Amino acid sequence: MTPAGTPPHDLDDPEKLAAADPSDFLRAVEALPAQLGEAIGLARAVDDLPPAEGLTAIAVLGMGGSGISGELLRSVLAPLAPVPVVTIRDYDVPAWVGPGTLVFAVSYSGDTEETLSAFRQAAARGARIVAVTTGGTLAGEAAAGGYPVVLVPGGLMPRAALGYVGVPPLVVCGRLGLAPGLDAALDEAVEVATRRAAECHRSVPAASNPAKALAARLVGCLPLVWGSEGIAGAAAYRLKCQLNENAKVLAGWATFPELNHNEVVGLYRSGRDLAPNPAPFGVVVLRHEGEHPRTSRRIDVTRSLVSDSVEFIEDVWARGSSPLARLLDLVTTGDHASTYLGIIRSVDPAPIAAIDILKAALG
Ligand code: PA5
Repeated sequence: MTPAGTPPHDLDDPEKLAAADPSDFLRAVEALPAQLGEAIGLARAVDDLPPAEGLTAIAVLGMGGSGISGELLRSVLAPLAPVPVVTIRDYDVPAWVGPGTLVFAVSYSGDTEETLSAFRQAAARGARIVAVTTGGTLAGEAAAGGYPVVLVPGGLMPRAALGYVGVPPLVVCGRLGLAPGLDAALDEAVEVATRRAAECHRSVPAASNPAKALAARLVGCLPLVWGSEGIAGAAAYRLKCQLNENAKVLAGWATFPELNHNEVVGLYRSGRDLAPNPAPFGVVVLRHEGEHPRTSRRIDVTRSLVSDSVEFIEDVWARGSSPLARLLDLVTTGDHASTYLGIIRSVDPAPIAAIDILKAALG
């Protein structure tokens, strides 16, 4: 939370904004639409993809800013792909990973130990692997093993490289015929994200900038990000992580309908009545027109139920007609808003000392 009495940062003052974001992290956030387009080209150019015949599952191996690519793929492919898609954020792969599994080993640095461990296990089990990385150990070992590698540009914080790490698995699944209509969806996603990024750009004043407005609402709140299971859930998880890393705040996330069966009770002081919990919850609900109708109804009922016990509850609606475009639209707003919240809180959005120190301590 922002300490009481901290003056709100003027996001519309370019000099103050530059001073609060010395490495210009915001520029990388603003570049997401261009990155999406570039990543599509890189992934379309990779040769020697594994066959799709006899595939039984798709697994994405990756942690943090790279692992989110698994949530993108899982949520977009769920209604399309003939096999399940699972994200694995751990050292070990489940027992079912084998020759029938298409595995994406995704690590921006190429040196994340959990991803490398899972990659090696998947290789030992004969899985069909595609690596996505800027280089590092993963690129070397994948190339040595004869697996295709989508090499993406380096020099970014992994969480600012979502286009580079998130798009190649989608493109590869499209090329393998696992996700009909994905090419058109990718084109629409670039267009929708471009439009949203323009609206959220630093040059657009807070009065008409949805990301600046959302960041301002979150000041002093404990953010809870909700979305319906699927693409909004994936975007909610992304925003929760971006609030952690860009704004340096704790945040919660949960999905409908599941949150109606647990999290909603935590907004109250007691289970006997609706006496509000004193914590200053600020609830952001990520919405899109493809929600299950009963989930939309649940969101309406939940809003009226909790509105007295939270600082605010606000819907953020996705644009676009395809699930992928809607997902990337929500991500674009959230990435900008979390960065602006860091700036408002006078914390540099870029550094993530806790992660760096942990990695160094673990060798
Ligand atoms: O945001 C970050 O920097 C982290 O979440 C990293 O993405 C995570 O530690 C994994 O590293 P990499 O993306 O290089 O595999």
